[in-house]
Amino acid sequence: MKIAVCEGDGIGHEVIPPAKEVLKHFLPDADYFDVFVGYDKWKETGESSSDSDIALFKSSDAILFGAITTPPVPEYKSVILRIRQELDLYANLRPVKGSIFGQDFDIMIVRENTEGLYSGIEEIGEERSTTLRVITKHGSERIAKMACTLSIERGHKMPLVIGNKANVLKSDVLFRDSCIKTAGLMGVKTKPMFIDALTFDVLMHPLSYDVIVTTNLFGDILSDACGYLTGGLGMLPSANIGEKNAFFEPVHGSAPDIAGQGIANPSAAIRSAAMMLDYFGMKKEAGIVEDAVIKVISSGVKTPDLGGKNSTKEAGEKILEYIKKI
Ligand code: NAI
Ligand code: MG
Repeated sequence: MKIAVCEGDGIGHEVIPPAKEVLKHFLPDADYFDVFVGYDKWKETGESSSDSDIALFKSSDAILFGAITTPPVPEYKSVILRIRQELDLYANLRPVKGSIFGQDFDIMIVRENTEGLYSGIEEIGEERSTTLRVITKHGSERIAKMACTLSIERGHKMPLVIGNKANVLKSDVLFRDSCIKTAGLMGVKTKPMFIDALTFDVLMHPLSYDVIVTTNLFGDILSDACGYLTGGLGMLPSANIGEKNAFFEPVHGSAPDIAGQGIANPSAAIRSAAMMLDYFGMKKEAGIVEDAVIKVISSGVKTPDLGGKNSTKEAGEKILEYIKKI
């Protein structure tokens, strides 16, 4: 098994090492190799990622990724977008877990990752700029299939919610209807909801949701908004899945404001490692890691973003210690 590891920039250097330790505990014989991409690389070499970096990522079974800084300069090419496109990582999975009124919620946001408003087809002018929103039947059906598979795996506890805005954006009629058709073929009940009302309702009633499928931009915003339910960006993991490759990263960025201080919350990165284990079919092991993260935090070991005083290293070590005891 080949696992590419990219710390990236900023707090990536701090949160990825403890996540890698967790992977090494469960997969001691895997071949781990580092790939250097991102802003630091751009400053050194003039390119943020090379063709051979992309080839290395493609040769792996899975990628553990930190975060990279994207400076707002037009000549800088976003590495994340390049990886998503060239590896065709069409499904972005973002679990949102927590508890409210003493009851646990567990929502899976399934975001289409390759088209929609992030297709990169734009015309930029002084007076008028446009961005083309591309929705295809193929793209909608394959993301719907992924969402339905997850819904079934999770026991199809609630209908699959289809986040859309088909009342205003006619391109979303194709998305919504392709999802309904695919779900029908797979025996999954659906509930289309308009994305604005949906975002509000998830925050109000998180216990009423299981799997939500939506388009690229809507999924980006919805999943960040749901971060509110979980104790912050330092808690949220994600997976980007394609036919051949898979990429696991915390939702947060490189956090230059706290980088180098050793106080970043490693939970999101460690949970991303758990999602990798789940992807490899190691569901029990993934569950142990999830459990460890929650138990260690509830025992009072917390980084400053959660109101505690512990360092990244201390939090990571406690989580690994807990895992090793099981
Ligand atoms: P950010 O997620 O890096 O930081 C937002 C806020 O959350 C900051 O106050 C930060 O200190 C805090 N934070 C984030 N992760 C944390 C953690 N693990 N523990 C404790 N606190 C944490 O987002 P921001 O500031 O908008 O972006 C910074 C850089 O990261 C930018 O260059 C941006 O382009 C890049 N970025 C990269 C992403 C990626 O690689 N996938 C995703 C988002 C942003
Ligand atoms: Mg985002």
